[in-house]
Amino acid sequence: MPDALIDEFLCAMPLPALLVDQSERIIGANPEALTLLGQQIVGRHFATILRQPPVTDAIETILRDKRPREAQHLANDGAQDTTFRVTFRYVNGIGAVKGGAVLVSFLDVSHLGQAEQMRRDFVANVSHELRTPLTALMGFIETLRGAARDDADARDRFLSIMDGEANRMNRLVGDLISLNRVESEERVRPSEDVNLTQQIESTLRSMRPLADEAGVTLHMTAPDDPVIVTGDPDQLQQVCTNLIENAIKYGGAGGRVDVVLSISDREPALRAPGARIQVIDQGAGIDPIHLPRLTERFYRADSHRSRELGGTGLGLAIVKHIINRHRGRLRVESNLGQGSVFTVILPRKTEQN
Ligand SMILES: Nc1ncnc2c1ncn2[C@@H]1O[C@H](COP(=O)(O)OP(=O)(O)OP(=O)(O)O)[C@@H](O)[C@H]1O
Ligand SMILES: [Mg+2]
Repeated sequence: MPDALIDEFLCAMPLPALLVDQSERIIGANPEALTLLGQQIVGRHFATILRQPPVTDAIETILRDKRPREAQHLANDGAQDTTFRVTFRYVNGIGAVKGGAVLVSFLDVSHLGQAEQMRRDFVANVSHELRTPLTALMGFIETLRGAARDDADARDRFLSIMDGEANRMNRLVGDLISLNRVESEERVRPSEDVNLTQQIESTLRSMRPLADEAGVTLHMTAPDDPVIVTGDPDQLQQVCTNLIENAIKYGGAGGRVDVVLSISDREPALRAPGARIQVIDQGAGIDPIHLPRLTERFYRADSHRSRELGGTGLGLAIVKHIINRHRGRLRVESNLGQGSVFTVILPRKTEQN
């Protein structure tokens, strides 16, 4: 039986941990290990508790050769799977234990698996998004070489469709590069002074042709004094452009888009002076079930319509990362048939800060 010192040591460990001695019995376990493996494990043969072959093999071997090793242990609490990296270390003669023992500790590494799954999903999505226009391009190349070879009208028509598809691939690659850059810079605080008032005015000017084409009028409301934040001007421009473009593309049916810039002395969410940019449309709105996932990469509320309009589904993912980098917040309020309000809250530069 283990002495009090061993118990003290096991209890001080921040991970589930237990000891197996040369008689192959579990001679001590901390409360974390009892929670993981069951309350009645001390005194039992280890193989009746730890049944997974990689773990039992490792214990048997280390009891003989005393060399450290690792193995994986999968647990399921009925609701979800947890993956542990199990570490085995031999401890020579401790306290009253004769002949040494194996310290077995469990590190939960499930989050690594989730990150891996996200990476796989991302690659699958990118491949799918690239393949669709690529398949179209290859089809048209084949037709142009064959059936449409001498048909000038068809050739022009196909070339213009091909142009559209190539542009779509180009936009997707551009957005991916942009997302990558924003993600890699997310921990670097931006440092320039940005005049949001001016920036929104210039974004609205550049959006005018798109708005005219969609039959949408653009309106801006702003405080008299310029609103200044500390930020990255290109990235904040990207935020405004995507939100206003979305409002025109997806909410344009309402005929008008409002951009409202305002300030507050103390923004509750930031506990600091804030600047708010609200992009408001009167269009079809978004079903609230989509809202929690809207800023995920490639997530679209209406994928058919978004693809038709040439969207890549990356815009709001980029927006979210940029706002995070600026220590700001993004809020989306919408209901079907009632338009949408996208609110960006940024910490505002004042004389004090
Ligand atoms: N104002 C809006 N009204 C209705 N739906 C919207 C609005 N803004 C965004 N959405 C929905 O959210 C989805 C995600 O928007 P996001 O900007 O991330 O992608 P996108 O516009 O499709 O592509 P990209 O911005 O890369 O061109 C859109 O596909 C659309 O379904
Ligand atoms: Mg967009």
